[in-house]
Amino acid sequence: MSIYKVGVVGAGTMGAGIAQVVSTNGTPVVLKEVKEEFLQKGLGAIRKIYEGRVAKGRMTPQELEEKMKLVTPTLSYDPFKEVDLVIEAVPELMKVKLEIFQALDQACPAGAILATNTSALSISGLGSATKRPDRVIGMHFFYPAPVMKLVEVIPGLETGDETVEEVTAFAESLRKIPVKVKECPGFLVNRLLMPYLNEAVRCLEETSSGIQEIDQAMKAVGWPMGPFTLIDALGIDICAEAGKVLWEGYGERMKPAGLWVRMLELKRLGRKSGRGFYDYSSAAPADPGKPAEELAKKGPARFTPERLMFLIINEAVMALQEGISSASEIEMAVVAGLGFPPSKGGLLHLADAIGIDTLVEGMDRLTQELGFRFHPSHRLRTMRHAGHLGVKAKRGFFTY
Ligand SMILES: NC(=O)c1ccc[n+]([C@@H]2O[C@H](COP(=O)([O-])OP(=O)(O)OC[C@H]3O[C@@H](n4cnc5c(N)ncnc54)[C@H](O)[C@@H]3O)[C@@H](O)[C@H]2O)c1
Repeated sequence: MSIYKVGVVGAGTMGAGIAQVVSTNGTPVVLKEVKEEFLQKGLGAIRKIYEGRVAKGRMTPQELEEKMKLVTPTLSYDPFKEVDLVIEAVPELMKVKLEIFQALDQACPAGAILATNTSALSISGLGSATKRPDRVIGMHFFYPAPVMKLVEVIPGLETGDETVEEVTAFAESLRKIPVKVKECPGFLVNRLLMPYLNEAVRCLEETSSGIQEIDQAMKAVGWPMGPFTLIDALGIDICAEAGKVLWEGYGERMKPAGLWVRMLELKRLGRKSGRGFYDYSSAAPADPGKPAEELAKKGPARFTPERLMFLIINEAVMALQEGISSASEIEMAVVAGLGFPPSKGGLLHLADAIGIDTLVEGMDRLTQELGFRFHPSHRLRTMRHAGHLGVKAKRGFFTY
C-alpha cells in the first residue's frame, strides 16, 4: 500500500517535527491537537523550521508557503478517514495513548497503519486496543526529528510483515535511516544508552573523578559530547524515567544510581531548568559553574572509560544475542542514533578492535570489583572459546 496522506496526533515537540519531516517530502499531513492554541504553536514550530531553511537559501519563501499548505490543522478525527498512516506523538501516558488508538481505529480506513512514537510504552499493548493489531507498529523518531536520521521501526507481537515493510519504505522515503527493532524495554537505542549514562553517574557518585574529567575522557574515546552534557541536554527527568523502565525490564544490572533521585529532588533537570550537572545560568552555556559532584559521596572506586564502554558494548552484544536487531542494524543505530563516530564503525566493530578475549577478561575483572552488571554476555564467551577474537583473528562480529 502506498502512503499518500499521513495523520499526526499531537503537535508538541515531536509531533510538529514529524509533521515537518513528512510535509517536506511533499506528502499531505493532517495534524491533530486538543486545543487551537496548541495547534497554532505546532504550526508555528513547523514554520520556524522552514524559515531556517529559507534563511540558509535552501528554499524560497514561496516554497515555504507551499509546504505549509500541505499541513492541515484539525481538532477532530474527521479528516483521518482519508489517511494511510498515522503517527501518534502525544504525552507518554498509556491511558491517553490507549484512548487515542481506539479513536483512531474507528476514524481511520480499515487498512491504515497506526504507528506510535512512544519511547517506552508497549507497542503490543497499543495494538491490542484496536481491531487491527497487525497494522499497529512503533515508529520511534529521535529529537530533533527534522535533524536526527534514525527511526526505530518496532513491530509488536501481532504486527504484520507488510506493515513493517511499508513503514520501513516510508521512513526511507523521508530520507531517514530505519532500523528494525524487536520490542523490548528501551527498544535499541535507549537500552544501550541508559546503562552507559547510568554508569557515568555512578562513577561521579563513587569515585574522585569529576563531571568535566569524565566528559572529557569519554570525548577522547570518540563520543561527540560527554555523558553529563548529554544527560543535561536530554533532561534528567526524562533519563530518570527511562532508567526506571529499564530497571523494571532488565532488573539489577540496570539499577539506577542514587544521584538521579537527588538531582530530581533538587529540581536540577538539565539545560531546560538552567541547571543540571552543569550550570547554564552564566553567559557561557556550557559553563560547569557549581558542579553536582559536590553533592556526591566519594568512594574508593576508580573511574575508567572502560567502565562505561564495556557496559554499552556488552548491552549491544546482548541485544544481538536476543535477536533484537542484526549486527549491521545495531551499528547503524549506534552511529545514527547515538552519534558514535562512523570511523569506529559502531560498538560491535569496537569490540572486535579491542579483542573479544580482552573484553571478557576486563569484564570478569570489573564483575569482581564492581558487581554483576559487568558480567559478560554468553555470546562473548562463546566467541572467545571459538577463537573469534575480532580484528586480530580476522573474525569476530564481522570478518576482516
Ligand atoms: N521529546 C523527545 O525528545 C522525544 C523523543 C522521542 C520520542 N518521544 C515520545 O514522543 C511522544 C511525544 O512527546 P513530546 O515530547 O512531543 O510531547 P509534548 O508534550 O511536547 O507534545 C505532546 C502533544 O500532544 C498533545 N495531545 C495530548 N492529547 C492529545 C490528543 N488526544 N489529541 C491530540 N493531541 C494531543 C498535547 O497537547 C501536546 O501538544 C511521547 O510518547 C514521547 O515519549 C519524545
